[in-house]
Amino acid sequence: MENMQEIEEIKARIEEAVKDIKSSATMREIKMKFLGKAGEISSLMKKLRDLPPEMRPEMGKIINALREWAENRFDEFEKAVKTKELGARYEREKIDVTLPGKTRKKGAFHPDTMIVDELVSVFAGMGFEIYEGREIETDYYNFTALNTPKDHPARDMQDTFYLGADYLLRTQTSAGQVHVMENKKPPIKILSPGKVYRPDDDATHSPMFSQMEGLVVDKGITLCDLKGMLDEFAARIFGSGVKTRLRPSYFPFTEPSVEVDVSCFACGGKGCKLCKGTGWIEVLGAGMVNRAVLENCGIDPDVYTGFAFGMGIERIAMLKYGINNMKLLFEGDVRFLKQFRA
Ligand code: PHE
Repeated sequence: MENMQEIEEIKARIEEAVKDIKSSATMREIKMKFLGKAGEISSLMKKLRDLPPEMRPEMGKIINALREWAENRFDEFEKAVKTKELGARYEREKIDVTLPGKTRKKGAFHPDTMIVDELVSVFAGMGFEIYEGREIETDYYNFTALNTPKDHPARDMQDTFYLGADYLLRTQTSAGQVHVMENKKPPIKILSPGKVYRPDDDATHSPMFSQMEGLVVDKGITLCDLKGMLDEFAARIFGSGVKTRLRPSYFPFTEPSVEVDVSCFACGGKGCKLCKGTGWIEVLGAGMVNRAVLENCGIDPDVYTGFAFGMGIERIAMLKYGINNMKLLFEGDVRFLKQFRA
């Protein structure tokens, strides 16, 4: 009888304990206290040994029934606690799907970058390799080797930033031509984009700007090859139907030299504001590589011929995107730049 009372007391204690259970963690703790190996129900089992043998089976059944009851009771509570916990978690993690999303600012490529990328892909498609020259050059590479010795009047065409007696900031990507020809035997087919420097500063000139140089040297290269390549370039960059025309010009490192115009892509050649009524727009300088330049670089001009061309990236960008002041390309004003978002 004493035992029966103990059993009732345990039941009561379990009912009391589960009332305060707030989380699965305390649930586990309390469960251990009653059902664990050293728990109250297990110690009741151990006490069976002290009972007279004839009472043991009966009492064993009663304790087992208690264990079963306790297990069921804990299961019920566990379910209830879990549901409560889940409910609380849903409440915590609730989001208002009607709130406007956070927007992230999107970057844009600089117009210069877009033109360079476009040019590179057009010329790479024609088999040109990219050569990146250096911005600090010697007088020899920038001028002398390009058939422009000291006191040559053509030096006046390009004012120069000198860095002491020996070095200067290149005034043209043409300086790279010499490095390439010195180091590589024909066939040569390179494209060289990069920054160049001249002390000019107005709406269409900046002390630092970018050029794209092209050089092709091989046996049997003629002005016709240049013209054919330029037509392809004009159609790809300015639109199909855009034609090119060559006008005689002068550069010391090319002979003959030409100025290349494209038919106006804004008016189709009829004459408008962009082409100043002429129907044509000047886009680059070019010519057949001067024999003297080939010789300076150790290439036999009786065996090899070549053509070169050079264009201003900013000028192409301004034409293509209708930009009227070169300063806009260097000020980094986001309001300007974001207009070029693709
Ligand atoms: N380097 C010349 C310039 O800056 C452009 C040019 C390049 C002309 C190659 C002919 C051949 O004006």
